Amino acid sequence: MDYFQLVCAIGAVLLAFYYYYTLTFNYWKIRNVVGPRPIILAGNLGEILFKKMSISDKLKQMYDEYKNEPVFGIFEGMKPVLVINDLDLIKDVLIKDFSLFVDRGFPMFPKVEPLGEHLFALEEERWRPMRTKLSPIFTSGKLKEMIPLMLECSRNLEKYVENVARAGKPVECRDLAAKFTTDVIGNCVFGINMNALEDEKSEFREIGKKLFAQTPRMQARDICRQFLPNFYNLFGSFLQIPGVDQFLTDVITDTIKYRRENNIVRPDFVNALIEIQDHPEKLENIELTPSFIAAQAFVFFTAGFETSSTTMSHALYELARNQDIQDKLRKEIREIYEKHGEITYDTLKEMKYLDKVFKEVLRMYPLLSMLTREVSENYTFKGTKITIEKGTIVWIPAYGIQRDPNIYPDPDKFDPERFNENAVASRHPMSYLSFGNGPRNCIGARFAYCQSKIGLTTILRNYKVNVCEKTKIPYESDPYQFLLTLKGGVNLKITKAEN
Ligand code: HEM
Repeated sequence: MDYFQLVCAIGAVLLAFYYYYTLTFNYWKIRNVVGPRPIILAGNLGEILFKKMSISDKLKQMYDEYKNEPVFGIFEGMKPVLVINDLDLIKDVLIKDFSLFVDRGFPMFPKVEPLGEHLFALEEERWRPMRTKLSPIFTSGKLKEMIPLMLECSRNLEKYVENVARAGKPVECRDLAAKFTTDVIGNCVFGINMNALEDEKSEFREIGKKLFAQTPRMQARDICRQFLPNFYNLFGSFLQIPGVDQFLTDVITDTIKYRRENNIVRPDFVNALIEIQDHPEKLENIELTPSFIAAQAFVFFTAGFETSSTTMSHALYELARNQDIQDKLRKEIREIYEKHGEITYDTLKEMKYLDKVFKEVLRMYPLLSMLTREVSENYTFKGTKITIEKGTIVWIPAYGIQRDPNIYPDPDKFDPERFNENAVASRHPMSYLSFGNGPRNCIGARFAYCQSKIGLTTILRNYKVNVCEKTKIPYESDPYQFLLTLKGGVNLKITKAEN
């Protein structure tokens, strides 16, 4: 081959490569759907791929640009994704036409990620019966029984906070809160003492940290998973966190075995899994392997501790910056303690201001910046000429909506009064999506409310959180984290509150 032929061959390969990877890029244009211009390989998510922006900020940027349109089209790599802005259309997807939008379209790689076949990711056929079987663990009756277990963990939290206040140094509050929520999940959901507050080297806390740590290996895993799924399916096992899957599978298998051998019945998640094994009726299409059972436990562990602890840390961050709101909240907490002497499910409900504070925290910082659904048939959005094909993924931009000044005036201001009854009634029900909505919303929302509120009351009743020289202001989201997270952590100073 001479030089000219070599240049032509390379040119042809590059052209074929370019052609293949941009093949879908007129997908939205020919359907008359507007949207930003994609780039080869990354689609519209280049900044996320190169860690220049967090997914939350990128999606909000695009939402702000196109929010006057009912929908806009983007590309995740080569894959077309429709982002829905219009709140009525969102209601159709999440609620009215839910039967066509049951799946999240979350890829599963059972060979590579044995614990990946969990409730969050499952397709309709396995999701429906599993959700029905798992939902009863979070009824108000069961939650009432869990409150004393949460309070047990809160006593260790109080001791921990006392030591932190005495030391007088700034503390990273996301880690502090994660120690508490790890213990709560362990105690209430698995019946295991995870010891994260008492033991600095708690194995569960270490596993929890590993699950969310962004090491180069994890970044490579996420990029391959998202943009090179075929490659990932073959070689992804080399990119997993060593030991984590095995550890969690062993823990759950051993706990189930121990409970069976000793006839122990507790009102928790492990019990629900035992029930599923003993009564597999309506689960005929599901192979209940140890790893499938462990996968369900895995998602409750990961979704259960990190989300609530990050939200607790966001609450502490805003309360440190808004001392008047913090004082008002502390007053309410102390009044309820004085009135009842202890916290119960019902006294928590009496803390109306805490409820508004918590909702406003999640309004400003919805951890999942978007909800996702996959359509199972060709679908035309009501009142429009926009039709999507079976299998298309839709995103609902929760963060963009919840920071939209047309919906929440002065959206960057922390103002719990946005959640007084009248204000809530005046807004569209789809303007608050922090726990999702419809039949596939967050299964653990009420549990999250309870554990986070107990954690916050424990800290704030006798202690004050303050900004310090290490506190990052203004807020900057971490591009390495999928959940909306403050870059560098929530560093605050904790001092004793005056009586
Ligand atoms: C502040 C804390 C939390 C937040 C902000 C949060 C948020 C969310 C969101 C936005 C979804 C997706 C909903 C949708 O697509 O409509 C979700 C799903 C889910 N969450 Fe949570 N969550 C929290 C706490 C928890 C807890 C404590 C647990 C379990 C103990 C949990 C377990 C799950 C599971 C299993 C799903 C998937 C549900 C399904 O597909 O059926 N979450 N969560």
